[in-house]
Amino acid sequence: MGTGGIAREHAGALAQIDGTEIVGVTDAVASAAEDFSSKHGGKVYANVNELLADLKPDCLYITSPNFARGEGERAALKHGIPFFIEKPMGNDTGMLNEVASEVTKSGLMTCAAYMNRYREGVNKVKAMIEKEPAILGYGGWWGGSPGNHPWWTDKSKSGGQMHEQCTHTVDLCRYFFGEPVEVYSAGVTGFNKGIPNYSMEDASTMVVRFANGGVVNLMSSCSSNAGGGIFLNIHGLNHNYKFSEWRHDVVIKGKDEEPVEISAEPDIFVIEDTAFITAVRTGNKATIRSDYADGVKSALITIGANKSIETGKPVAL
Ligand SMILES: NC(=O)c1ccc[n+]([C@@H]2O[C@H](COP(=O)([O-])OP(=O)(O)OC[C@H]3O[C@@H](n4cnc5c(N)ncnc54)[C@H](O)[C@@H]3O)[C@@H](O)[C@H]2O)c1
Repeated sequence: MGTGGIAREHAGALAQIDGTEIVGVTDAVASAAEDFSSKHGGKVYANVNELLADLKPDCLYITSPNFARGEGERAALKHGIPFFIEKPMGNDTGMLNEVASEVTKSGLMTCAAYMNRYREGVNKVKAMIEKEPAILGYGGWWGGSPGNHPWWTDKSKSGGQMHEQCTHTVDLCRYFFGEPVEVYSAGVTGFNKGIPNYSMEDASTMVVRFANGGVVNLMSSCSSNAGGGIFLNIHGLNHNYKFSEWRHDVVIKGKDEEPVEISAEPDIFVIEDTAFITAVRTGNKATIRSDYADGVKSALITIGANKSIETGKPVAL
């Protein structure tokens, strides 16, 4: 459900997994669903409930934008269909907590689209951090000024860049540090000019404290036109870990040791989708590294950060 950019990415990945077929599609814009169907297959339906009732597919991909969440998850719950859902899980705390509670009660298989959790380098670092706790992290997601976009630039829909993109980095910090206790954030506006329907911060920074005693500072920018990037640096007592760019290549450096680099996988969506499809096929959730309720915990951090920007105060998580 939702047949835009990321749906096409998953369609391409699923085409590389034997025995998968897109059997139905739905989108708020009928012509978008028709266009997707003509390229990737699937019967077009007016809405997700009709699709699930008619086809009873093995699973559902919820790839609509995060402002449009809730309908697909509730339909999947009603029809007992396992679902994969894009990040962030949604924008509304009430809906997120309600659906997470229903999903957990039902035992329905779900997968949250935090694909970096499937990377070898990320899991090597996680294993090392389990032995030697992470103390400090700093990272960010820096891009240039956006152009005209149907929903991304509208903070009431996307939740802003911290919530919509930097969520990947926030989720990795949860993967490494454990659960958070508090977030504080500050944002700036007024530098980007003349962008239609633009209401997000031009840049923001957030500090998250974790129950393990560690702390991270994550920075988001959509006004860094001379260059930016995606990065996350973490250190423990005797090790530093430096992740760089969208691929999350990582350099691991121990005290008095030579650095070791682990290059990231180029086909991460195939790896992530294989983990979910394997779980659906076997009925065993072991291959899934983040489910819906877990993904909600990452969304609540950036929702808290947005609240902190509004109030100027730290927000307990
Ligand atoms: N995992 C990743 O790295 C990654 C990358 C890109 C996007 N995403 C996420 O995927 C989601 C979609 O992003 P996108 O870039 O594909 O957006 P997009 O704008 O390219 O496509 C969204 C599609 O959803 C449709 N849509 C809107 N409201 C709908 C509704 N209520 N029901 C059904 N369809 C609806 C739109 O008509 C459009 O066709 C976002 O939440 C985004 O954060 C994740």
